[in-house]
Amino acid sequence: MAVSIRQVHPVFVGEVSGVDLRRTLSPDEVAAIDEGMDRYAVLVFHDQRISDEQQIAFARNFGEIENSRGGYLGKAEDRRLHPLMNDVSNLDQHHRPLERDDRRRFFNLGNRLWHSDSSFRAVPAKYSILSGRIVVDRGGNTEFADMRAAWDALSDATKALVEPLICEHSLMYSRGLLGFGDFTEEERAMFRPVRQALVRVHPKTGRKSLYLASHAGAIVGWPVPEARAFLRDLTEEATRPENVYVHRWRQYDLVMWDNRQTMHRVRRFDERQVRDMRRTTVAGEAATAEQVAA
Ligand SMILES: [Fe+2]
Repeated sequence: MAVSIRQVHPVFVGEVSGVDLRRTLSPDEVAAIDEGMDRYAVLVFHDQRISDEQQIAFARNFGEIENSRGGYLGKAEDRRLHPLMNDVSNLDQHHRPLERDDRRRFFNLGNRLWHSDSSFRAVPAKYSILSGRIVVDRGGNTEFADMRAAWDALSDATKALVEPLICEHSLMYSRGLLGFGDFTEEERAMFRPVRQALVRVHPKTGRKSLYLASHAGAIVGWPVPEARAFLRDLTEEATRPENVYVHRWRQYDLVMWDNRQTMHRVRRFDERQVRDMRRTTVAGEAATAEQVAA
């Protein structure tokens, strides 16, 4: 069977059929998925009952896998999953929902804010691949916004204003928005802000997109309150309902998105229920802006 993709939203998002992600894919299948990513920016695969090893192998078709280190709180020995897997569940190392006052839960709550994965890393992520192993029956949707459409909708004056701008991104900014700022010295060093271009150009299609995230807390050369008010306006415009796709999870759905072209957020759900979501992340190829030495 050949890979086929059907667009399921007016501006982006494709639903893929004709491929079993447990298998080793042929070069043609990989090329079809890669082209689908360039065009739709988000791809949805249903009924993919894969293991962590199979998910890692699938991700490797698209580049190097990003190590999850530096993107979470807690000790390495308390991790539930392999370091090449990002644990996006609400679970502790004993597979139980995190306690209400657990710091790791406070940290995870940042995923409710619009973001692009790993924009807080100097070389940010390319693709994220999220597998719904155990999903909840109410809430917990993941929403995606098309940041190419967001760019296209800007006025010429705003495009000219944002095009040269460089932002600073850090997990401390996004978590700070929720009032969580209780970081250790070691965490502060790990979450040191990095610089990212505010406008990105897709290397293959040439389409421009706004590169925003709740991690962005400053614009180089701007007063902080002015930068934050501006970034908030841009985010609000970028995430207008017509640019947003809502994914309602079914068990064993696998959703793959391009972090260079989209933002996403998770919606509220009953956190006493088990929600086991596992992500592999394909690393980006280069920084989007020059970094300053710390
Ligand atoms: Fe995310």
